[in-house]
Amino acid sequence: MSDKVIIFDTTLRDGEQSPGASMTKDEKVRIARQLERLKVDVIEAGFAASSEGDFQAISAVAAAIKDSIVCSLARANDKDITRAADALKFANAKRIHAFLATSPLHMAVKLRMSPEEVLEQSKRSIRFARNLADDIEFSAEDGYRSEMDFLCRVVEGVINEGATTINIPDTVGYATPELYGEFIKTLRTRVPNSDKAVWSVHCHNDLGMAVANSLAGVKIGGARQIECTVNGLGERAGNTALEEIVMALRTRKDYFDMVCGIDATQIVPASKLVSQITGFVVQPNKAVVGANAFAHTSGIHQDGILKNRETYEIMRAEDVGWSANKIVLGKLSGRNAFKQRLQELGIAIEAEADLNEAFVRFKSLADQKSEIFDEDIIAIMSNSATAEAAEHYHFLSLSQHSETGERPKSRVTFRVGDKEVSSEAEGNGPVDASLNAIEEVVKSGAEQLLYSVNAITSGTQSQGEVTVRLAKGGRIVNGVGTDPDIIAASAKAYLSALNKLHDPSQAKLNAQMTP
Ligand code: KIV
Ligand code: ZN
Repeated sequence: MSDKVIIFDTTLRDGEQSPGASMTKDEKVRIARQLERLKVDVIEAGFAASSEGDFQAISAVAAAIKDSIVCSLARANDKDITRAADALKFANAKRIHAFLATSPLHMAVKLRMSPEEVLEQSKRSIRFARNLADDIEFSAEDGYRSEMDFLCRVVEGVINEGATTINIPDTVGYATPELYGEFIKTLRTRVPNSDKAVWSVHCHNDLGMAVANSLAGVKIGGARQIECTVNGLGERAGNTALEEIVMALRTRKDYFDMVCGIDATQIVPASKLVSQITGFVVQPNKAVVGANAFAHTSGIHQDGILKNRETYEIMRAEDVGWSANKIVLGKLSGRNAFKQRLQELGIAIEAEADLNEAFVRFKSLADQKSEIFDEDIIAIMSNSATAEAAEHYHFLSLSQHSETGERPKSRVTFRVGDKEVSSEAEGNGPVDASLNAIEEVVKSGAEQLLYSVNAITSGTQSQGEVTVRLAKGGRIVNGVGTDPDIIAASAKAYLSALNKLHDPSQAKLNAQMTP
């Protein structure tokens, strides 16, 4: 029987540390539900002690998720560990993940601690954590640049105290596959109680080798847990990409001889959701989830594929959840057809009233756009009337005028609280004019960090999906808006970002600002 590799997803924690990728509580819950559909074994929902907002988000994820283990990161001290345990109180299955740096550089410069102090603190923290949970992971931060003898002593010590998973991060993405695999193997061989814990790999992608290093950690080193993120999201060049790991293990099962429990058909929906929420667009040639990952344009390739798809394809697009932009519904489709398509897409609707409300949205989109694709339905379902009613700023309508050689003008009507306001402004282009019109009223003074437009499906019939990233008072928020009219989508995205800045319950410092 093949060994199982545990898939530990850290999109909501390490992924969130990407500058600008900070997520609200509701966004984390939406992504966590998709990770559960994907059947990841462990969801690292955040870093409870980093902010009140992250504590609340972890608690909400813990309450919502039933099938995956929910985890919180904590520095290896009593206060952080207690906070992690409190956030995980309602989890069906919980894990506390404590970390402390073990490399000479980090110990001397960052921690200002001697190796003996680090060893003692590591052991003490795990002893403490074991009173609060049974499932405890210890990470030796910057583990790959740590001195082998010392690291062996730390790992042996924390396993003795009850750590059940040992994670050896390549925090700065310095490793190469063979060396990293050998490093894990040496550790496992030299630590006398190594068989009492699951070994885990956590690689950053600074040299573009995170996936290869993680796989080597499994194949050469004998690790049985891989830490990864959807789309490889993460600080700097990102983390190990979940979709690449899963498809490498599956496609090259002949070589790895390992299994994982992931439902690969949920990969593309997960990728799209993470990209939509964070505003981190997936590059077209990205393996597995890029728009071109399964596109063949050269005549020779197309000819080969038509004769036998295996000539040029090692994976099937539908196996990872690409739905081939099928026209699924249109103006004449009924409520039952809509409901059935939602079920096929794995979108759960609990209350009848929510279904009715979603169907009204669908009909209104179908009036604007004759062909409705799966992607459109996913976009419709990412909003709800209840959420919109609670919005402080809510888009109502827009008209704009632009002509070559003239400065565009826009008039935007939106709700502020329960008051309807209209405002007019000029700008460099119609989008700029529309956002200026909103800003005339709101006067947020927020700095615009990003504006990006994406077509949800192909062709000019597509809805535009706009992401606006704003910064104010140490907080960075993303707003997303979709509409067949990209100017309206831009205004919606801007108002959505302003809502997040306005809402105190979303008052979360950007993850990378954690003290
Ligand atoms: O990269 C790293 O070292 C980490 C640890 C905190 C697990 O993310
Ligand atoms: Zn990391």
